[in-house]
Amino acid sequence: MARVDYTERIPNNVSLAENRRLLRALEEWRPRYLDWWQQMGPDGFQAKDVYLRTAISVDPQGWAHFDWVKMPEYRWGIFLAEPEPGRSIAFGEHKGTPAWQEVPGEYRGTLRRLIVTQGDTEPASVEQQRHLGRTCPSLYDLRNIFQVNVEEGRHLWAMVYLLHAHFGRDGREEAEGLLQRRSGDSDKPRILGAFNEKTPDWLSFFMFCFFTDRDGKYQLASLAESGFDPLSRTCRFMLTEEAHHMFVGEAGIGRVVQKTCELMREHRTDDVRRHGGIDLPTMQKYLNFHCSVSLDLFGSEISTNAANFYTAGLKGRFEETKKTDDHLLKEATYSIAVPDGDAVKMAEEPALLALNERLRDDYIADCQRGVDRWNATIKRHGIDLVLRLPHRGFHRAIGNFAELRVSPDGRIVSQAEWDARKHDWLPTPEDEAYVASLMTPVVEPGKFAGWIAPPTRGINGQPVEFQYVKLTPRE
Ligand SMILES: [Fe+2]
Ligand SMILES: [Fe+2]
Repeated sequence: MARVDYTERIPNNVSLAENRRLLRALEEWRPRYLDWWQQMGPDGFQAKDVYLRTAISVDPQGWAHFDWVKMPEYRWGIFLAEPEPGRSIAFGEHKGTPAWQEVPGEYRGTLRRLIVTQGDTEPASVEQQRHLGRTCPSLYDLRNIFQVNVEEGRHLWAMVYLLHAHFGRDGREEAEGLLQRRSGDSDKPRILGAFNEKTPDWLSFFMFCFFTDRDGKYQLASLAESGFDPLSRTCRFMLTEEAHHMFVGEAGIGRVVQKTCELMREHRTDDVRRHGGIDLPTMQKYLNFHCSVSLDLFGSEISTNAANFYTAGLKGRFEETKKTDDHLLKEATYSIAVPDGDAVKMAEEPALLALNERLRDDYIADCQRGVDRWNATIKRHGIDLVLRLPHRGFHRAIGNFAELRVSPDGRIVSQAEWDARKHDWLPTPEDEAYVASLMTPVVEPGKFAGWIAPPTRGINGQPVEFQYVKLTPRE
């Protein structure tokens, strides 16, 4: 089993010590990464001990080590899932041939672009979240955001490793570029739209983890099918860390829902703002926003790029190897939603061209499972309201619906109706100001802000009231 030396500067299971050239390149990149982390990583808290998990192997039985770490001293390592002996390419025109251990020349540019686009999202989210520590609703949540942040940093390392190891000078230049772009910067923005949005408060953070990180899960899952084996193995291990990010989002929103329901019952009112809670209609508006910007990340419904990635064997479908069709999709069709007058109808399109939409469908089904769990909480409190995912056409900037105005329930509406109703559908400046007004830090162990319920259990078997971040030195 590929156990690693946890004391190494760059813990890894890729035999870095035996590849001096690569080791040197990564060691040269490392101080620039640390500069970026100091500049753009969590604002404050860099000298504090945080109870973090660090990946120390890829052993499913125990890949994580929990300990007190100052974030700049986190061991950002490089881990690829164990190779599958004899793995072959599962789809596209190279189906059945051995997976590539080196980049095929003909796909060099395309693969590099896929890796850079994925890699760019990792530091972007750290940048988006950098001020949130200052307003944490609890030490437990503070630790969780830092955990997500350091792991997004490790995901950047994962992509930079591939660039350095397999793409020569171009790869090294791209690795620098990943440290130079900045979320929301007008001159050098991050590549994808949702990663240039602001994450100004913790409700947005939980929504981001639920919706936007989940896009990451689906992109990683389809890259985990790649015929380029090092990319596949990297993504497979990243997905194990990603599961925690999904948990932070879903449980975070779940705890806000829980608290809101408790306040509604206790005070026999829907107007929980008077009692310091976040009312369900406001949560619905945040949900609408974050869902819609995340849906855009999947790209256009009809995409020749997606078809080419698939045919070339670079990016598969979600759970490609579990599907029982021909894995070529030359004849198959797939039904997608298209605008038709003021309604939306379904149309059959070539499956190969509709791969983005198919991945978006898998994603939406996954999101719905989380929404159902929140609704079960609402129902348990005897409250007659359900949270809903907005229609896929709502508030879109990319694809068939980008030029249209679509209500959350899927009607194509006039600009006039949109203008009159959009305040019911998306957070208003007043909503945002209200949520911002709740963001006062709570840092006493075991205490939680008044708008969110405590979790049912702590991290790694520790109690909820554990001092997850040592803000004041104490032994
Ligand atoms: Fe990530
Ligand atoms: Fe993530």
